[in-house]
Amino acid sequence: MLEPLAHIGRDPATGGYVRDAWSAADMELREWFAGEAGRRGLDLREDRNGNLWAWWGDPSGRPGVVTGSHLDSVRQGGAYDGPLGVVSAFAALDLLKERGITPARPVGVVCFTDEEGARFGVPCMGSRLLTGVLAPERALALTDDSGDTLADVLTKAGRAPYELGRDDETLATVGTFVELHVEQGQALVHEGRPVGVAAAIWPHGRWRFDFHGRADHAGTTRLADRDDPMLPFARMVLAARAGAARRDVVATVGKVRVAPGNANAIPGLVSAWLDARGADEAAVRALVAELAEEAPATVREESWTPVVDFAVPLRERLARVAGGDTPAPVLPTGAGHDAGILATAGVPSAMLFVRNPTGVSHSPDEHAERADCEAGVVALADVLEDLCR
Ligand code: GLV
Ligand code: MN
Ligand code: MN
Ligand code: MN
Repeated sequence: MLEPLAHIGRDPATGGYVRDAWSAADMELREWFAGEAGRRGLDLREDRNGNLWAWWGDPSGRPGVVTGSHLDSVRQGGAYDGPLGVVSAFAALDLLKERGITPARPVGVVCFTDEEGARFGVPCMGSRLLTGVLAPERALALTDDSGDTLADVLTKAGRAPYELGRDDETLATVGTFVELHVEQGQALVHEGRPVGVAAAIWPHGRWRFDFHGRADHAGTTRLADRDDPMLPFARMVLAARAGAARRDVVATVGKVRVAPGNANAIPGLVSAWLDARGADEAAVRALVAELAEEAPATVREESWTPVVDFAVPLRERLARVAGGDTPAPVLPTGAGHDAGILATAGVPSAMLFVRNPTGVSHSPDEHAERADCEAGVVALADVLEDLCR
């Protein structure tokens, strides 16, 4: 089932995927989702925030059990982060049908919009809007690299942007949410198990640092006369690394914009995006506060996600059901997910992880073995069957 998606948004030069929200690739993936829903006779709905839902049974009377993930990607991402969860959701429904099961509760497959935040900077945009933790006015004003606002992009995509925002009617259909995801680490390799369960998601955030300087000629401006924002930017990157190591957290500057971007000119502006995460929220906050204080930059928080501790009874139930004879291992993660946003909003939520032999993710080298993906589908079907009783 992943194969028909393999060409969509793929960069032939690298093998990586570029699937920004609302891009042509994303629209093609959405069409694929609609097709899979249609082939199975599921009831397809697009909510006010662009999230797609495919229902087996009618959740208007009684909240359902929902599974799924996202189809967008980081820039130059792998084939599994997101799509594995959506494909496995459809496959698990097929397996339930093969087993002759008629679920006592409605079962839904969801595709959340713009989980990675690759285009507008805020991750889990679809689930944040749905649950009301992101204000629609702020979302609509976010811009992509070409300066288009989300409002512009939605209009071009034929969506009426003024409808964005907290959607209690849709939320009320979600009794329980289970997201299957490729593991973004090697814990399951070390455990020797194909499938695990999420314990917690580290608190994490993104901040934009704008370093302003004075653009000038690279050849004729004496060193003493320069106001070069590249220098404090470089110091911030090194300070982030050192400060993170001191506090046992992680910090990354993975995106930088240099303006105007001439090889033969001192830049006038360097914008850098800091991603910081860790088990201890206070340590992450302290790192960012220190960097913001030391750097001669204007600093803006683009997103913050508090710690998510998935509810113990539900995750233990999953570990039992998904693990077979021995409960599946329960693992913390430093990656963000829509399941975390829903859990924080009070929706009983849980996650299954599928082994990743190298642990590499957010890269074209991301991988999962076919047999492990199949084990993930079986585990997900077992979990859905159990939760639908
Ligand atoms: C998304 O995958 C994130 O954790 O940044
Ligand atoms: Mn991701
Ligand atoms: Mn993901
Ligand atoms: Mn993620």
